Amino acid sequence: MKFIVGNWKMNGNMENKEALLKSLKNLRTNNKVILCLPFTLLYGNNYGTIIGAQDISEHDNGAYTGDISGQMLKDADVKYVIVGHSERRANHNETNAIVKAKATAAIKNGIIPIICIGENATEKNSGRTMSVIKKMLLESVPAKGEYIIAYEPRWAIGSGKTPTNEEIATAFETIMKALHGIKRENVALLYGGSVNAKNAAQIASIKNVDGLLVGGASLKSDTFLPIIKSID
Ligand code: 13P
Repeated sequence: MKFIVGNWKMNGNMENKEALLKSLKNLRTNNKVILCLPFTLLYGNNYGTIIGAQDISEHDNGAYTGDISGQMLKDADVKYVIVGHSERRANHNETNAIVKAKATAAIKNGIIPIICIGENATEKNSGRTMSVIKKMLLESVPAKGEYIIAYEPRWAIGSGKTPTNEEIATAFETIMKALHGIKRENVALLYGGSVNAKNAAQIASIKNVDGLLVGGASLKSDTFLPIIKSID
């Protein structure tokens, strides 16, 4: 069983959601499929698919206009939430400390955070990938609770570029070492960044990769279902 997590980002409407979830309902798979939708699409008939959100407030409630709390997500039957996606880190100035607070808020509400980490192109090109992801990990991950780590190199997102198998394996080894004290079976590690039906099976077979976080290719059944099927 591998995790296949779709991240719709700021895309899609009710009709698109219905169409994809109906096709997922008829799919027989051993994988754990999770669809992380925009807030407006969280409620409603989810046809049995596990639903996740893409952000959570670090606060419980109160005067935080536009934010959505863990309690609200729980109320909408959300089981997972992406935190610290590189687009939020870049566009909303989310620091490791904020990401950690958001992950903690999720855990407190029984929602499993999918904590994203990953180096940008400059960091990669100056040979700092491992130190960057280690720092992000140590500062973003709460001390206790169940969580998932998603390694998404920023330069690989939406670019059609992916790291080599060796680079992914080294990154995942670094992550496991940095999480020392955490039992392997208690943490799932995902890769994200330009995953498609052609590269999914190969990436999913790399040591320590427990699943994939899929952006663009998760929007429609004709690109998402082949990914799921390819690693069954
Ligand atoms: P793409 O699969 O579109 O590269 O996006 C990856 C991503 O950011 C998933 O969270």
